[in-house]
Amino acid sequence: MKRVITYGTFDLLHYGHIQLLKRARERGDYLIVALSTDAFNRDGKHKDCYFSYEERKRLLEAIRYVDLVIPEESWEQKIQDIREYHVDTFVIGDDWAGRFDFLTPYCEVVYLPRTPEISTTKVKQDLSGGA
Ligand code: CTP
Repeated sequence: MKRVITYGTFDLLHYGHIQLLKRARERGDYLIVALSTDAFNRDGKHKDCYFSYEERKRLLEAIRYVDLVIPEESWEQKIQDIREYHVDTFVIGDDWAGRFDFLTPYCEVVYLPRTPEISTTKVKQDLSGGA
């Protein structure tokens, strides 16, 4: 079985996220999503979430491409996760291109093109009447 992992916040789930998850799952047979916890979003990523970790987790678990959701609590946990879950492939959007090349001794690293013109930030801006 080929195992794939991806990381992210996945707040206000949108079709860009779904496309990323679908393409990640197509790289293997089992997709793990390491989902940023509320504390990590706040203290590590300086992001404010609309939905709580438990709400975001339940949404992801309802998606057919997602097999397992685990907490992402720090920037440093990736090598440990790859070992613990016997991960073959690490996948993330190409807004992170090159940033995770240090994982190549542990697994394959793939940067997928982002879906254009959609992001959680844009949804929030549009709903609040911003540009
Ligand atoms: N992603 C994507 N295409 C988009 C938006 C996100 O492929 N249009 C990918 C990201 O590259 C990442 C994953 O989805 O691999 C989770 O992204 P996340 O940062 O949670 O979502 P964004 O919409 O980018 O959120 P924000 O605007 O807060 O950065």
